[in-house]
Amino acid sequence: MYNKGTIITGLIIFVVLVTSPIWYNGLKAGPLPKPELPPGGEQQCVRPADEMRDKHMVLLNEWRDDVLREGGRMTITVGGKEYRKGLQMACMECHSNKEKFCDTCHDYTSVKPYCWECHLAPAEAASKKKETL
Ligand code: HEC
Ligand code: HEC
Ligand code: HEC
Repeated sequence: MYNKGTIITGLIIFVVLVTSPIWYNGLKAGPLPKPELPPGGEQQCVRPADEMRDKHMVLLNEWRDDVLREGGRMTITVGGKEYRKGLQMACMECHSNKEKFCDTCHDYTSVKPYCWECHLAPAEAASKKKETL
């Protein structure tokens, strides 16, 4: 014979254990990412920050087209300093810590830009440079 009481207690413990991540975390999606500002101390982005937050992917595509189709490597001036338009040459020049900037948001939203299959993140670019020296 089996004991009804034990089975029900067992079931309750099972349900509580299985659903514990929900009780533990509440229904939040985890802490919001805090992208780290440029370690070089730059104060401005190429566009206002809220516009960048919404549209940086679109801007990157425009830049790629500008650079590749128009041929020329246009420069942009931010805070009195010139940057060459480009993913590595502008964005990553300031946002040099990809993990603590780009990746914090992308991991949070599960976005995986495929750009890094070809473009080098600053850390990789630096180690490549060492290898070829
Ligand atoms: C299959 C390889 C490949 C992938 C993937 C790729 N690119 Fe590129 N991209 C290139 C090459 C090659 C150039 C030309 C480099 C040059 O002329 O200096 C380029 C140039 C660019 C440029 C203009 C110049 C520069 O050096 O930055 C931008 C901006 C750019 N890509 C953005 C992106 C973005 C954003 C993604 C991801 C959404 C991406 N690319 C994915 C190969 C790639
Ligand atoms: C001259 C240095 C510089 C360059 C170049 C630059 N950024 Fe920024 N970026 C900043 C700074 C500084 C901020 C924060 C601005 C603020 O808070 O007002 C920022 C903010 C941002 C934000 C919003 C971050 C947030 O916390 O919401 C995104 C996204 C971003 N940049 C992406 C890019 C991309 C993509 C590129 C290349 C197309 C780029 N940045 C080029 C300096 C730069
Ligand atoms: C404030 C948060 C935030 C920061 C910081 C940020 N991104 Fe994004 N990024 C996003 C979000 C959210 C998306 C997805 C948007 C969508 O799908 O509409 C995205 C999408 C992209 C895409 C398009 C990917 C695709 O597969 O469509 C590229 C390219 C990209 N980001 C590049 C960058 C680069 C490079 C940096 C660092 C210089 C950066 N982002 C920093 C939030 C951020």
